[in-house]
Amino acid sequence: MTTATTSVPELIAEGQTTEEGFLRQIFVRDQMAEWSKQPLVMSRADGVFYWDVEGKRYYDGISGIYVVSVGHNNRQVIEAIKRQLDVLTFSPPMHGTNPLAVQLANLLAELAPGDLSTVKFQCGGAEVVEAAIKLARQYHRLAGSPGKYKVISRYQSWHGSTLGALSASGLKSRKTVNEPMAPGFVHVFPPTCYRCPFGKSYPDCGVTCATIVGDVIEMEDPATVAAVLVEPIGHTGGVIDPPEEYLPILREVCDRHNVLLIFDEIITGIGRTGRMFAAETFGVTPDVLLVAKGLSGGYAPLSAMICRGPIADAFWGPIAENPGFVEGHTFEGNPISCAAGLAVLREILERDLLGNARAQGRRLRERFDDLARKYPIIGDIRGKGLFQAIEFVRDRATKARFPDATAFGVRVGRRALAHGLLCRFDPHWIAFGPPLIVTAEQVDEMAAILDRSIGEVLGELETGRAGVGEG
Ligand SMILES: Cc1ncc(COP(=O)(O)O)c(C=O)c1O
Repeated sequence: MTTATTSVPELIAEGQTTEEGFLRQIFVRDQMAEWSKQPLVMSRADGVFYWDVEGKRYYDGISGIYVVSVGHNNRQVIEAIKRQLDVLTFSPPMHGTNPLAVQLANLLAELAPGDLSTVKFQCGGAEVVEAAIKLARQYHRLAGSPGKYKVISRYQSWHGSTLGALSASGLKSRKTVNEPMAPGFVHVFPPTCYRCPFGKSYPDCGVTCATIVGDVIEMEDPATVAAVLVEPIGHTGGVIDPPEEYLPILREVCDRHNVLLIFDEIITGIGRTGRMFAAETFGVTPDVLLVAKGLSGGYAPLSAMICRGPIADAFWGPIAENPGFVEGHTFEGNPISCAAGLAVLREILERDLLGNARAQGRRLRERFDDLARKYPIIGDIRGKGLFQAIEFVRDRATKARFPDATAFGVRVGRRALAHGLLCRFDPHWIAFGPPLIVTAEQVDEMAAILDRSIGEVLGELETGRAGVGEG
């Protein structure tokens, strides 16, 4: 807090940014009291590595959080941003756009499958989730079905922190504290085959998790349902990779009921599954596809909602009867962000990083399979390309979990951090999502750190040592 003065207050030194007194001035995503015991404050990064303010190096096994698609310190992207900084940093959003936004929209239209062709840019994932929900509602109004407003999404899903996206999300740990949620959101069970919510087994199950979405639409009244919103591979439930029939069935159900199918590809988009979009990996074209995170690779905030041409056409009527798409934020289509997005896509295409994601994804699966042969506490391995997870179990035969209090996955994740590897961890699973530039050798080294970390946690459990916070 400063008083009126003409002098600029001194910044605290970088070395002080891990001191609790100074950390009390900032909220981070973690539980503060716990996090501040061993705060992680990153200072610089290069390729697939971070260095913290104390100079310790970490493998970035999770691309920041599935963001840093083309690696850290990518000179092509940085130079593109620098060039743009000298030309135009902000265009007036109430009056139009800028050439880079139009160029990037057209490139995305070229790359996206089917007739996904019209783009709304925003800064973050939640913002384009909100845009997609509004698009679905406004589209149905313009197309003669104004009663369609409900959004069907899934338990255990994560679509973002703004209230609409949060209402669509299905993670009670992040929702309950913020309730009540917005009305008009209905949840269904996700395709967690390893622990089928219907007590069935694939393939004899008939993919009930998908067909039941049709039943839910019927029960809700199709005249009230605007959209089905899903992540092609869910993240927060522990990387929920659906059976191959799942998304085609959702496509058919949505078509049958005049409901828009929205894919939240905020993680799975931009090469993570080994194709530019998971829609291609699964061979299903949604009506609306959302990308963020990897689109600008972390060099500037950028997200995009891409919708099918016929849907966008509904917003092109005469002004007297058509207000256009009523949605917007100040920083949408920012030229610096779009310059980053164009350079990231160029890097991915020119260096065939999609091919590398497929190759290193296979390598990662081999390493995880090796670990599963060594450790019976690995119950399941899921995911595609450079987006894969391991679920831990106490007993592989019964799939019984470790008690929540054991927090096995958290302990492994913390051990890995201590050994210089960042991955995503949860009490019962851990996930990897390294940059698309990762090499085979780096995949092997990350797997070796994971191996060591699992071994140490098992050793702790055997000797009865506790301490989730250890390491
Ligand atoms: C699948 C998915 N959708 C949406 C979001 C929200 O994105 P943001 O945090 O950029 O708002 C996230 C963020 O983690 C996500 O993983």
